[in-house]
Amino acid sequence: MAQSTPSQQLLEKIVSLAKRRGFIFQSSEIYGGLNGCWDYGPLGVEMLRNLKDAWWRAMTQRGDIEGLDASILMHPKVWEASGHVQNFSDPMVDCRECKSRYRVDHLFAEMSEKKLKSITKSLVLETRDFTKDQLAELVTGMIEQNDSIFGSLVEQELIPCPNCGRTKTFTVPRSFNLMFETHIGPVKDDSNAVVYLRPETAQGIFVNFLNVMQSSRQKIPFGICQIGKSFRNEINTKNFLFRTREFEQMEMQFFCKAGSDDAFFEQWRETRWNWWRSLGMPESKLRFRPHEKLAHYAKAAGDIEFEFPFGFGEIEGIHNRTDFDLTRHQEFSGKSLQVHDEETKEKYTPYVVETAAGASRGFMAFLCNGYEEETVNGEQRVVLRLHPFLAPVKVAVFPLVNKDGMPEIASELERDLRKSMKSFYDDSGAVGRRYRRMDEIGTPFCVTIDSDTLTNQTVTIRERDSMQQVRVSMGHVKEYINERLSSPV
Ligand code: GAP
Repeated sequence: MAQSTPSQQLLEKIVSLAKRRGFIFQSSEIYGGLNGCWDYGPLGVEMLRNLKDAWWRAMTQRGDIEGLDASILMHPKVWEASGHVQNFSDPMVDCRECKSRYRVDHLFAEMSEKKLKSITKSLVLETRDFTKDQLAELVTGMIEQNDSIFGSLVEQELIPCPNCGRTKTFTVPRSFNLMFETHIGPVKDDSNAVVYLRPETAQGIFVNFLNVMQSSRQKIPFGICQIGKSFRNEINTKNFLFRTREFEQMEMQFFCKAGSDDAFFEQWRETRWNWWRSLGMPESKLRFRPHEKLAHYAKAAGDIEFEFPFGFGEIEGIHNRTDFDLTRHQEFSGKSLQVHDEETKEKYTPYVVETAAGASRGFMAFLCNGYEEETVNGEQRVVLRLHPFLAPVKVAVFPLVNKDGMPEIASELERDLRKSMKSFYDDSGAVGRRYRRMDEIGTPFCVTIDSDTLTNQTVTIRERDSMQQVRVSMGHVKEYINERLSSPV
């Protein structure tokens, strides 16, 4: 069996910690799991809520953005108007021998540079200064335009199956729509009853644009934001929470006048970058990648990417969607979604700059970013360096020993802290072990009741990252911690 690489090993450690400590479980684990679906355990759900809360505050506490919670099931025409019925598909191929299924672009993205070069040579393409990624994009693009090229490359034995290694086994590329279909009502074969699980939250915002504008009395420019589940029948789910079939998105559509869209695109790019940074993402692990190939609706687009153990991957897309979506919904619904320009007295359809972040993918990025192993006094310590606002448990309270009234004082303090933050009481094992258990779940503060507490009512507060301890009077513990937990917004 092939040895796993250091980056795979790192990811395996993070997945194992996530399971052992109750962040993430495999969906339906006792039945063998369900591919591409995950469950958030007690600590995971707290952390995910904190992440969504940080985003929600950053969006809705500016004054020019309103919140929305639209339903997951929408009128089927929504997805015709949005282009998803026609365009939201990936070309995929199957290996006839081992039955593995691949997305065509993934096949080339994971191919060696040498193999890609032999393909471009056979296609008589000039690629002297091309990087490996550019070679893969070039070949994928050519196949998208003419899929008979794929068959000819297979015949020339230039595309072996990455799983079984055999050549000439791939089927021709077939288009595979990523939307999950379901039915409303009892009659499954009635085509009118077909509905889709939404593949993005954005469309719920577009169709409610005028409802929100009128009811909230906002004026252009303004935004609508929403957090919610989206579903995509991804062909390949891999890398833990990175690409799943059910996931949560945090999306915001900013409605503006044509002409101001480029400036808003730049503004939102910067605002969103700064948000990830404000929650502790280091500059060195983030990058902005402009899209070379634009989606059918976009005038400009780019991704904020995070460096996962397996390489850089998108955590948020920023898109200038122009007036594409509102115009299409007007066409398909027959209802006007135009607004009145008070200066020119004319009606117009607003442009939209969209920020589309993954809550689930962002959650994974913060887990990966926070995970660290270090040696302290000759012992290994695993620490999850989460921003205190994201940490699932904010404070742990320990009695140093289980006697002299220390457990009673500690549990009373913990009960008091519990009213304003997620806290945890622990009196089992050596205090060093208790610190380690809190370090690996990212608890920023541990408070210990010791013999000094009995005489002068002070406690120690130990900070997770520096492991420094300060003595604070018991009456000031809540204030001390609250000051350090405040939202990054
Ligand atoms: N409304 C635009 C839109 O949905 P997207 O780039 O397809 O754009 C936005 O998705 C974000 O949603 C991505 O940056 C990613 O964080 C998250 N996302 C998309 N597909 C995902 C999947 N299969 N699993 C987990 N997260 C996903």
